[in-house]
Amino acid sequence: MVLVYPRKIDLAHTPTPLQYLERASRRWGCGCRIWVKRDDLTGCTLSGNKVRKLEYITAHAIDTGCDTLITCGGIQSNHCRATALAGAQLGLQVHLLLRGAAPAEREGNLLLDYLAGASVNCYAPSQYVRDIDALFAQWQAHYAARGRKALAIPTGGSDGIGVWGYIAACEELARDFAAAGIERAHVVTATGSGGTQAGLTLGAALHRLPVTVWGVNVCDDAQYFLRKVAQDVGDWRQRYPQCPEIPVEPRVLDGYVGQGYGVADAQVFDLICTLARLEGIVLDPVYTGKAFAGMLAELKQGRFEGTRDIVFMHTGGIFGVFPQRRGFTDPAPAGGP
Ligand SMILES: Cc1ncc(COP(=O)(O)O)c(C=O)c1O
Repeated sequence: MVLVYPRKIDLAHTPTPLQYLERASRRWGCGCRIWVKRDDLTGCTLSGNKVRKLEYITAHAIDTGCDTLITCGGIQSNHCRATALAGAQLGLQVHLLLRGAAPAEREGNLLLDYLAGASVNCYAPSQYVRDIDALFAQWQAHYAARGRKALAIPTGGSDGIGVWGYIAACEELARDFAAAGIERAHVVTATGSGGTQAGLTLGAALHRLPVTVWGVNVCDDAQYFLRKVAQDVGDWRQRYPQCPEIPVEPRVLDGYVGQGYGVADAQVFDLICTLARLEGIVLDPVYTGKAFAGMLAELKQGRFEGTRDIVFMHTGGIFGVFPQRRGFTDPAPAGGP
């Protein structure tokens, strides 16, 4: 199948490793092999899943004459931090519209937003939810009045442009599978604004990758993400009508949100700690910790029975660990060999 990709700007350090977790497989695999696709290693500070999306989004911005990027998210948004750094790397101004009160102390992703020189406005959650479209329009008009052109990037960079990042990542996965001797697999990713799941689901279909893609939702519910993935795929079809028509079937593993977005329970914090000690891989409490916990619970319940290989997409989020340090209650010493 001939797939014509739009232009992208190389921002991500790819291919990222596909790492086999030997001890984790022994401990939790129920006979399956657990692998991690290390998209937390797409970069050091410009890292995680957002970088693959931003490769296409920033190229689109520059090709359409934009000199400014406006985007939005939570105070500790990984997407906003990645956009701030990508903008700085490319000489584009970045303006972030953040949900929540500005904290007294800048830390984690927010600190990096400032270091990267992004302009930041914080809005009360009620205003943010009600007015976000109007705020984008207001700031775009603000820049236009000054002779500038600002691209409005939706939450998480999840739209028909951003999905190219994980359509392309599926080609990378195909090469990983060939090298690792994986014939068929389940791929599990955290899903928050839907774009990574949409790209993987679409990419797997387009590239005939022998996988079933699952999103573990970290907010909202299964219905929301089924709709959101369909919406992103629809936007992609509309923007790139020359691309092949292909049916996609998104799948969601619901039930692991816990108390809400950004709030992890003690088991998730414990799991982050355990995996860090077992394999040297650090998850985060907002996205990957919950998704990994969901994957292990589903493994135990037999969801993936009949398939030998499970691939966890590590989408990054390391800077979200630090603002939540208090959740890690006195971890026991790791002990000797
Ligand atoms: C670390 C991390 N993992 C996963 C996700 C979810 O990706 P998406 O927004 O594409 O659903 C996000 C962002 O929302 C994220 O920051």
